[in-house]
Amino acid sequence: MLRVGVMVSGGGTNLQAILDAIDAGTITNAKVEVVISNNPGAYALERAKKHGIQALCLSPKEFPSRDAFNEAFVETVDSYGLDLIVLAGFLVKIPDALVEKYERRIINIHPSLIPSFCGVGFYGLRVHEAALARGVKVTGATVHFVDGGMDTGPIILQKAVEVLDGDTPELLQRRVMEQAEWVILPRAIHMIANGQISQS
Ligand code: GAR
Repeated sequence: MLRVGVMVSGGGTNLQAILDAIDAGTITNAKVEVVISNNPGAYALERAKKHGIQALCLSPKEFPSRDAFNEAFVETVDSYGLDLIVLAGFLVKIPDALVEKYERRIINIHPSLIPSFCGVGFYGLRVHEAALARGVKVTGATVHFVDGGMDTGPIILQKAVEVLDGDTPELLQRRVMEQAEWVILPRAIHMIANGQISQS
């Protein structure tokens, strides 16, 4: 059974998609052990609690320095003995020590077709604002392994989504979530849990 930790900062719809897929049996051999947020107000924490999953908050603001936060974050993650860390809308830079220790065991969902509209400053609605400003006709989402860069790790799955006339960033965000993110993130976890993706 793959021990999964999910890191969140906001609403947690991707977390919900993972929990629903486990309940429905479309993700097998995986269990969410803990949900960690940097934001005490994240609704994702409520979703975890409702599901009987341990939910905790670790905010950089509660620590005297970034190094102190990073140390506590790595210690907390280690204490759960996780096989896979899923960044599901987690807006904090993962400590380098964690990336090194958990090579190919950290995955991230990004709301565009990488390498478009990714990297520093591209998160949440901003990604969709940039896609609309550029006038692309197709966008989508990407699941990738996390390396030391920002959205630069090996790509696991991608799914394309059409941009429609009259789209607003909010409309496009919702379509990308429904048609791509909530599909490929659970699928990637299922594939990893069942040895269908190489982690070495
Ligand atoms: C999702 O769209 C996710 O792809 C994005 O944040 C949103 C979180 O929503 N992540 C990034 O932009 C990372 N660069 P959720 O909390 O409802 O899952």
